[in-house]
Amino acid sequence: MTVKSLVVYYSRTGNAKFVAETVAAELGSDIEEVVDMKSREGKLGWMSAGRDAMQGKETQISPTTKVPADYDLIIIGTPICAWSPSAAIRTYLSKNDLTGKKVALFFTMDSNLRGAVEKTKALAPKAVFVGDLAVAKTLENKEEAAKKIAEWCSTLKTQI
Ligand SMILES: Cc1cc2nc3c(=O)[nH]c(=O)nc-3n(C[C@H](O)[C@H](O)[C@H](O)COP(=O)(O)O)c2cc1C
Repeated sequence: MTVKSLVVYYSRTGNAKFVAETVAAELGSDIEEVVDMKSREGKLGWMSAGRDAMQGKETQISPTTKVPADYDLIIIGTPICAWSPSAAIRTYLSKNDLTGKKVALFFTMDSNLRGAVEKTKALAPKAVFVGDLAVAKTLENKEEAAKKIAEWCSTLKTQI
């Protein structure tokens, strides 16, 4: 049976985009970028990204086009912002019903996830989580990251 998978990601500066595209290439997935309508550019954007994530705030995202119900596996990725998922992915999870869906999570970060995995899982309490991955300083170590991502995708394939 062919597994139909969807990669959904938000990326402010390209790290999560790299992971998303690598996962999609490994698994043959469709891909959806979640776009934050609030500017996260520059110093002010950096600060608002951290503040909104830390306070568990939602944001405005542009309409998404893929329907999770059409997929067997959904892989969702976000940068870590203040030990939390981004406001954009928080918003995506509140707008999309993932009840009973197999979901894998990935995170990009500098060094420290802290409770972000559990915080993110709590935003989709009825999903069936089948894996998670954290990649540090992705764009600085692309080759190493790509290897780690490929290994993760192999384990994901065995779980679905
Ligand atoms: C406001 C803000 C807060 C951040 N907080 C953390 C953090 O708590 N832990 C961490 O390891 N990295 C943290 N980072 C670093 C990002 O998670 C990291 O650079 C990530 O790879 C960026 O992904 P992107 O390029 O897809 O946006 C933070 C970055 C920003 C902008």
